[in-house]
Amino acid sequence: MSQSIKGSQLTEFKGFSCVPHEVNPRLQRITLSPVALAQFEENSKNWDLQAIEYKPFLRFAVANALDEACEFSLSPLLNSIMQDRETGAFLFEYDGQPSGEVSDFHVKLSTAISHLIGVPNFDAMYGKFYARFTVKNKDDSDSYLRQAHRRMELHNDGTYVKERTDFVLMMKMKEQNMEGGDSLILHVDDWQDLETFYQHPLAKQDIQWGSPPSKQVDYKVHHPVFFEEDKNGKPHMLFIDQFCEPQNMQQGLYLHKMSESLEAEENCSNIRVPVGSMLVLQNHCWLHGRDKFIPNPGLERELLRQRGQFTQK
Ligand SMILES: [Fe+2]
Repeated sequence: MSQSIKGSQLTEFKGFSCVPHEVNPRLQRITLSPVALAQFEENSKNWDLQAIEYKPFLRFAVANALDEACEFSLSPLLNSIMQDRETGAFLFEYDGQPSGEVSDFHVKLSTAISHLIGVPNFDAMYGKFYARFTVKNKDDSDSYLRQAHRRMELHNDGTYVKERTDFVLMMKMKEQNMEGGDSLILHVDDWQDLETFYQHPLAKQDIQWGSPPSKQVDYKVHHPVFFEEDKNGKPHMLFIDQFCEPQNMQQGLYLHKMSESLEAEENCSNIRVPVGSMLVLQNHCWLHGRDKFIPNPGLERELLRQRGQFTQK
């Protein structure tokens, strides 16, 4: 783990703890204390959800209210985690119970976290800066997003949009009759076949990316899978198997083999995200997916998503 995080001794954290996750130590597990939770609610009590949706600057005020509840020790940690390629991911949880309406609290908490590290993009599927969607036992939509019984393959978000997608935040809002369905995450540097695909002649060639109608994106974009390098010269990725549109046999086979390699990768981690917790990933050095669920007629879960750009680099 990086010195920057080790160097931030636990005693310096006010109102939360931070430890490496037991399944994948790159992932940092941050837990807000009940005292800081109550202080955050108090600090932000004058701003309801509608106000936060109508006035974008209030989202930063909500973020500041959370940081203030942690004596401004949270923001430096979150940003150092996200800017360090060795980590680049955290699971944010809280102890205790909010006193107000729980799902409103979850939207506010996720808004605070996203605005401490960046600014979310407009979510065209939901028409707001965040999206909430439900996964049920049956679904007839045009992508795998809401389909329960199959594994959603490892991918990056933001492959088919013009906006930059530096981070992705996924929060569990509700869960009933769930078995399985863990988040799957893989750090690009832990992908054993990375060099094979990164050194390939097609690694830097533009690929066409498009999306089905439900995504509400009516254009196509063109970029390579390995679309840039980070400040240390290491690759940043943008890949999703459903939405690449290869235009010849070479591209088709390159992408097909990439998908097979990623799905077979044993360094992929299964991460359980409990209700009220959120997983936040640096989107270009982490791939994410979702394991399949066990069929159950009463199966239902609601997720909240925010995706956006970093404001500190
Ligand atoms: Fe995704």
